[in-house]
Amino acid sequence: MRVRYSATFLGTALLASAGFLALSCVSPESDAPLPSYDVRLADGAAGPFVIFGDSRKTLAAEFWRKRYDRERLLVIEAIAAENPAFVLNTGDLVAYGSDPEDWRSFYEENRPIFSRRIPYYAGLGNHEYYGDNERALANYFSFFPHLAGRKWYDIRFPPVLVVVLDSNFGDLSPGEASLQDEWLSRTLAAAEADPSIRHVLVTCHHPPYTNSVVHSDSRDVQERFVRRLTPKVKALISGHVHSYERFVRDGVQFVVSGGGGAPLTPVNVETPGYGDELRFRAEGGTLRCDVLMLQSDGSWKRVDGFECP
Ligand SMILES: [Fe+2]
Repeated sequence: MRVRYSATFLGTALLASAGFLALSCVSPESDAPLPSYDVRLADGAAGPFVIFGDSRKTLAAEFWRKRYDRERLLVIEAIAAENPAFVLNTGDLVAYGSDPEDWRSFYEENRPIFSRRIPYYAGLGNHEYYGDNERALANYFSFFPHLAGRKWYDIRFPPVLVVVLDSNFGDLSPGEASLQDEWLSRTLAAAEADPSIRHVLVTCHHPPYTNSVVHSDSRDVQERFVRRLTPKVKALISGHVHSYERFVRDGVQFVVSGGGGAPLTPVNVETPGYGDELRFRAEGGTLRCDVLMLQSDGSWKRVDGFECP
């Protein structure tokens, strides 16, 4: 088995729950208001959009893992320079969701994107839940008021519909998980019947399929999300594994894009790489995805891509 360490750009998440204690670090400034970013997608917005994930920092407890702070900033700068119609981060934006300081740092680091008023959407990664869940979710929804407290939602960008789901099933109540399942089925059925929607992208944090040597396939995602996919769903995009992977099953692209600046995860695939960003553009009836990877010299290279008819 060859092991590849690939680096980041869009999509991240990693290190799950088990190994770390959920300690809450309360700083003297923790009573100060958190920054927030309330920029929504405008009706009629056009242009490419970017999906990536796993921009969190390396935890102090991960003393054996490298830090990718420079790469994280290069990803942010590249996205800002792209000036996309919107950005979606599929989770693990921050390392410790319940720590206000992590959110303040996230705000400062992302100023190149925020100063351009680029709409920024997010999905919940396991790190958004780190610490006390109530406090962590309060931070998340305070930072992104346009999410209006929704753990799952859709982004309408005709002819594309992007569906954002919460795959942290250990943090969802059984009732919430069932509500999300039902919402997903209804949303996909509505998209099938909507002539203005041609392509549906489903996103969540945990990959249903991965070659990671650290993480396993998410059976929950397979059983709850994958089995509900309908013909217009062209891709399921996740992160959590800090690398880039792509699989095709039954005509659906399963993409793992976890290179937003978190410590890289080895995967047993053949293709060398170093960081990734997915840039989507709808051209005519086709949805095109270019996968851009950060190279060791700081440049960017298109290393993969696919088209959805
Ligand atoms: Fe994760």
